[in-house]
Amino acid sequence: MTEATQTIAADGHSFSLNGHNVSYRFHVDKDTGDLRLDHFGGSITGPIPTDPEPVVDGWTGMPDRVRREFPDAGRGDFRVPAVRIRQAEGHTVSAFKYRSYKVVDGKPGLSGLPATFGSEEAKTLVVSLYDEYSDLEAALTYTVFSDLDVIVRSASITNSSDKSVTIESLASLNVDFPVEEFEMIGLRGDWAREAHRQRRKVDYGVQSFGSMTGFSSHLHNPFLALVHPSTTESQGEAWGFSLVYSGSFTIHVEKGSQGLTRVSVGANQLSWSLKAGETLTSPECVSVYSVNGVGGISRSLHRLYRNHLMKTSPQDRPVLLNSWEGLYFNIDQDRMIKLAEESAALGVKLLVMDDGWFGKDYPRTSDAAGLGDWIPNPDRFPDGLAPLVDKITAIKVANSSVTLRFGIWVEPEMVNPQSSLYQQHPDWVLHAGRYPRTEQRNQLVLNLGLPEVQEYIITSISTILNGADITYVKWDHNRGLAEIPSPSANHAYILGMYHVFDVLTSRFPDVLWEGCASGGGRFDPGILQYFPQVWTSDDSDAVERIFIQFGTSIAYPASSMAGHISSVPNHQTGRTTPLTFRAHIAMMCGSFGLELVPSEMKDDEKKAIPGLIALAERVNPIVLNGDMWRLSLPEESNWPAALFISEDGNEAVLFFFQLSPLVNHAMPRVKLQGLDGQAMYRVDGQGPFSGSMLMNLGLQYSFTTDYASKVVFLERV
Ligand code: DGJ
Repeated sequence: MTEATQTIAADGHSFSLNGHNVSYRFHVDKDTGDLRLDHFGGSITGPIPTDPEPVVDGWTGMPDRVRREFPDAGRGDFRVPAVRIRQAEGHTVSAFKYRSYKVVDGKPGLSGLPATFGSEEAKTLVVSLYDEYSDLEAALTYTVFSDLDVIVRSASITNSSDKSVTIESLASLNVDFPVEEFEMIGLRGDWAREAHRQRRKVDYGVQSFGSMTGFSSHLHNPFLALVHPSTTESQGEAWGFSLVYSGSFTIHVEKGSQGLTRVSVGANQLSWSLKAGETLTSPECVSVYSVNGVGGISRSLHRLYRNHLMKTSPQDRPVLLNSWEGLYFNIDQDRMIKLAEESAALGVKLLVMDDGWFGKDYPRTSDAAGLGDWIPNPDRFPDGLAPLVDKITAIKVANSSVTLRFGIWVEPEMVNPQSSLYQQHPDWVLHAGRYPRTEQRNQLVLNLGLPEVQEYIITSISTILNGADITYVKWDHNRGLAEIPSPSANHAYILGMYHVFDVLTSRFPDVLWEGCASGGGRFDPGILQYFPQVWTSDDSDAVERIFIQFGTSIAYPASSMAGHISSVPNHQTGRTTPLTFRAHIAMMCGSFGLELVPSEMKDDEKKAIPGLIALAERVNPIVLNGDMWRLSLPEESNWPAALFISEDGNEAVLFFFQLSPLVNHAMPRVKLQGLDGQAMYRVDGQGPFSGSMLMNLGLQYSFTTDYASKVVFLERV
């Protein structure tokens, strides 16, 4: 068997990891015991010639001039290190040298952290390094998902000495690329403006981005793509890096003085004290390679996340109506029943009661009070939740055999000072001694690093879910972390949070869990392990959503996004767009819904809703499980378009939009991608047409207005 056909080939000197179209090769430098990276890119086979030693001239030495696999700190490599450890003596020098390796089948889990999983389709290499001066061991774990061209890596440090050390930083992944021109793509934004694609040149020096907010944040997503300047959406080499973590993180891209480019991805704010005998394991970082441009890495990530990350990826995503933008805090029993009846009459399958339902002594009637007190507000819900839920779940959904389902909003990681919980447990919140506790949206953050806080949340949410027939939970998180009591408390918080998610999602496996953090503020792979969908953004304007959803889709599958039709003028932008346009944008998300009061809609719009729901339900299985091809991008075209193709290639759905009108001008054609050129397809019942015609000539549609849209079905014959 050649090295290329072996997923992992290793002999203690050189290591070769191979996917169908990717190779990752490194070796042990015989003089130093250092691991040196040889290649991460398209498949290669056979031996690699020994490169000439770099010329050591000037005042940086050899370590600064080579491609290192696990660059430790303090020994003459002046680039960003992958690991920095404060040793018992106080300095931060380490010297990790190769010791041994093992290859195991499948994919081991990561204790306490979310992680990709796999059995036959995955193989894992663990390489051990040892620092003989400090008695610390490092283990680098690489799992290859060969059919996806994905290599997942994490690092761990074990303290075999009898003294404590502090792990200041530990990257999950470090890749040193050779001298080539690169550009980097990230997803940046802010509240209501998430996941905007940002592409820039990789130049000399360090360009880094990340989050210091304590959660992955709206500001920068824990994702990076590295591409050549000539790489496009569908052609050229692209490398993707996606960190499976929900806390603060840093991604460094450093072009060193020698022109080598280092990518380093990991959690930050670690400062983790490691006592004798203890191990710290980093979150894992997914890396993926494609020659088919940015779209190629997206599709591999999507398949990986759908099949090897989400604990559950429910096929049943009921069309829902969420009360937030329709009623905000003005909810009570009668209003919810009315909303339920109106929703069911339109064909909605799930009613979600958002914020404002809880709090007894400190009722949650605005964002000023109540968070932490997870009991129904007795003035608004005098009979409690169960009778309300019983009434609502008895309502028959129009044009269907089912009755309405019920879902609920919670924000369990938070507390308002105006709450019974805070009065009883002021020490449960993140705080730093006598410093004032910074409030944001009038709320403080519970310290999920504390076992008693974890227990309180698990019990409160379990009580709600055991007490009524609730089949959906929207788990919100509306502020960043401040007054973190110690440098390592952020990571401890995140570990505690994952514990809570793990217990609750295992205890209530039939609940559909949706993550939210003021929209997509915590849209990251770590969350997807537990919550298969995330509220993509608090910006529900359809035009803004094209940018946000296309941006989010660079790293995350459509099945993980939630999109809703909201009322016009839009509450965030004031823009008015046609109902069909709003609906078509929302149905590109795995979870489709409405967020308005139906009785406030114009008659013609209300009449159109059942048809749009039926369309969304027809589109949904393909969007949920299919491969996404971004055919044209909103940043580059007035006609953004996306094609979803079912995994078996038999069905596809095209979404095609026009943003502004084009007066007295011919329309461009939309060329499809990803079809079988030899196969024949019916297009909205017309044809059949060949895949080659659809991809090389394309389709043409005519729009006359702004915010126009079209959904087209393809079936292979
Ligand atoms: C922020 C969320 O993103 C909104 O959808 C809504 O749930 C509010 N919080 C409620 O306070």
